[in-house]
Amino acid sequence: MTANPEASKRSTNATTDVPHHVAIIMDGNGRWAVSRGLDVSDGHQAGFENLQRVVADFAKRGVRYLTMFAFSTENWDRPESEVNGILELAIAVIAHEAEQLHENGVRIKHLGRIERLSTELREELEQAVDLTAGNTGLTLGIAFDYGGRAEIVDAVKSLLVDGVAAEDISEEKFAEYLYTSDMPEVDLMIRTGGDYRISNFLLWQTAYSEFYFPDVLWPDFHGEHIDRAFESFNERQRRFGKRI
Ligand code: IPE
Ligand code: IPE
Ligand code: MG
Repeated sequence: MTANPEASKRSTNATTDVPHHVAIIMDGNGRWAVSRGLDVSDGHQAGFENLQRVVADFAKRGVRYLTMFAFSTENWDRPESEVNGILELAIAVIAHEAEQLHENGVRIKHLGRIERLSTELREELEQAVDLTAGNTGLTLGIAFDYGGRAEIVDAVKSLLVDGVAAEDISEEKFAEYLYTSDMPEVDLMIRTGGDYRISNFLLWQTAYSEFYFPDVLWPDFHGEHIDRAFESFNERQRRFGKRI
């Protein structure tokens, strides 16, 4: 095997390369609660509290785009009380945090379908998005009622509605129709909770992402795990299919 100067340079500067766009599958709230003899809703509460802490931890480290998977298109099939609890928590967190995030220059984006959200959640989200639209700091993507397949289907529908001709559809054009149209592709995908799967998250945008699976449940994920994730990211050689 030939030595790679780029790879050796990276391993000696382990903490210098910060991924531009980090996406997180925040999994393990249920197991966190059950292992403590608590209700699943307590796990979601702890999970949302951790989400609030973690945003600042990523911003502090220089990440520009952070996309958080909070609720999937499949999560509606959970018990109604659990779903309603998550919707309520999301409303409370956005209402509580939007102003502070705005002061910190964070731009909030919603990724996903809006139609099935409760009116209250929709309003809170839209207000937070509008309030922070002009900010130039961290872009925080909140994936709520998000599904990667739904996103692709929605993009196809919008292309048809816009009457885009087949010969004008390229990968770049298609990406303009995704929820992430003004975001770069994902550099680093982190999934907590111990499962090694993508669960319908950002199917298009993770084509060449690096994946990291810390052995921790989401409510317990904190700065030390971020540092380890970045160290691992820095040890990877991204080839994008090329001979490097
Ligand atoms: C992730 O935690 C949060 C959501 C899916 C809304 P889970 O509730 O899936 O936690 P586990 O996987 O059951 O532990
Ligand atoms: C993925 O976790 C969705 C979120 C974290 C919001 P799930 O718990 O829904 O995924 P599966 O069911 O284990 O694949
Ligand atoms: Mg889960």
